[in-house]
Amino acid sequence: MGIAATIQEPAEGLIFQGKKSVEPILRTENLWKLYHAGKVEVPALRGVNFEVQPGESVAVMGPSGCGKSSLLYVIGGLAQASRGKVLVDGNDLTELSDAARTKLRRHKIGFVFQRFNLLPTLTAKGNIAIAQFIHGDGFDPHRFDVVTLNEPKILLADEPTGNLDSKNSEIVLQMLRQLNKDLGQTIVMITHNPEATTYFDRVVHMRDGVIVDGVSAD
Ligand SMILES: Nc1ncnc2c1ncn2[C@@H]1O[C@H](COP(=O)(O)OP(=O)(O)OP(=O)(O)O)[C@@H](O)[C@H]1O
Ligand SMILES: [Mg+2]
Repeated sequence: MGIAATIQEPAEGLIFQGKKSVEPILRTENLWKLYHAGKVEVPALRGVNFEVQPGESVAVMGPSGCGKSSLLYVIGGLAQASRGKVLVDGNDLTELSDAARTKLRRHKIGFVFQRFNLLPTLTAKGNIAIAQFIHGDGFDPHRFDVVTLNEPKILLADEPTGNLDSKNSEIVLQMLRQLNKDLGQTIVMITHNPEATTYFDRVVHMRDGVIVDGVSAD
């Protein structure tokens, strides 16, 4: 084999991998979310530019009312964007019909909420994973609902440890980390708990409807 061939082949492979690795699984472009409370317009998101790479785990922090849940709901297709783009695995949610958006959400996105129980549907594996984590720990599953279908690529969590004591918080955080590291699920989690962020690759801070920075947790 000539030198040219040995150099050329890995070089092509590297270029391909490089392109793939920078393709975000989640991306928002100038994302706005306005709520209408009577005649008052409440801007919850004011031009959010946010990117998450496949397999990344990101914690979102910020004061109450800064738009964290709104961002999660719009990214997850539970709420509609008022302006801007939301790309999920290359699909622009803002250009899809309600039915198509729901379908995409069901296939690609799982939700973890603090108190809600939107879809009490768990995969068998999801049930086992949770049962293993909660076994013998006096954990109350009614306070922590995981909504997943078909092991979604993306897991969105809104303050999953919000009303748990520190021991149960740790169980939940360990479970999320395991889903991220072992199953490769991309995770975006909202939290008010600074300790929770040590379980994540990256921490993003929001304020007044925008992301104000993105620092590495390392
Ligand atoms: N359905 C709604 N109708 C009107 N205003 C809303 C609605 N939902 C949220 N808001 C407003 O939008 C802003 C952002 O709310 P959001 O729930 O996204 O904040 P948050 O960062 O998740 O806060 P918290 O930490 O308290 O959960 C707030 O001013 C809130 O009052
Ligand atoms: Mg919230």
